[in-house]
Amino acid sequence: MSKGNVAVLLSGRGSNFASIVRASRARGANFAVRLAVSDSADAAGLKKASRFGIPAHFIDPTLFPGKAAYETRICELLEREAIDLVCLAGYMRLVGPTLLGRYGGRILNIHPSLLPSFPGLDAQCQALRYGVKISGCTVHFVDAGTDTGPIVAQQAVAVRPDDTEESLSRRILIQEHRLYPRVVSLFFAGRLQIRGRTVIIGK
Ligand code: GRF
Repeated sequence: MSKGNVAVLLSGRGSNFASIVRASRARGANFAVRLAVSDSADAAGLKKASRFGIPAHFIDPTLFPGKAAYETRICELLEREAIDLVCLAGYMRLVGPTLLGRYGGRILNIHPSLLPSFPGLDAQCQALRYGVKISGCTVHFVDAGTDTGPIVAQQAVAVRPDDTEESLSRRILIQEHRLYPRVVSLFFAGRLQIRGRTVIIGK
């Protein structure tokens, strides 16, 4: 069976990256992670990648005249590895027209809230401050906005009265690690179809 080629873009810890790699190494997986790219030199995710034996690149955005040039460099790496799907996992930048132009409909992101609630930074904190009883995580296709693309899958997590940002984040993260690899697998099974804002998950 030929496997789909995945690249992960990250800026930090890389726990979702690790969960996607682990899933890719399970028996019967339909994808392989070929590449990790970070915009931050000290991202722990880069070290995780080398432990997994996955090529990892730090691309320093400050060395490029603008987002287009920076993303053109990323696209070169993606194309060199024949990447089919780009997974953003804690990647702290908005995707620009260059990357979207070449990989539109083939970029996923994970966000630690039930979108469209609490997009952007500190989603778990936003949820606690608002006082919601249920939060969770969302995997969505990426468009030009901040966490605005078509939603593929969501997992709810109950908020407890004594939750702190740390405790809620920890429980949400457990669900992130389950949800994201499942969506990647659905993508390569050809089961995701984007119709406007709706993603149909086929049988
Ligand atoms: C996760 O909570 C993810 O939902 C958000 O950023 C965090 C990244 O964590 N987009 P990690 O780097 O995958 O551990």
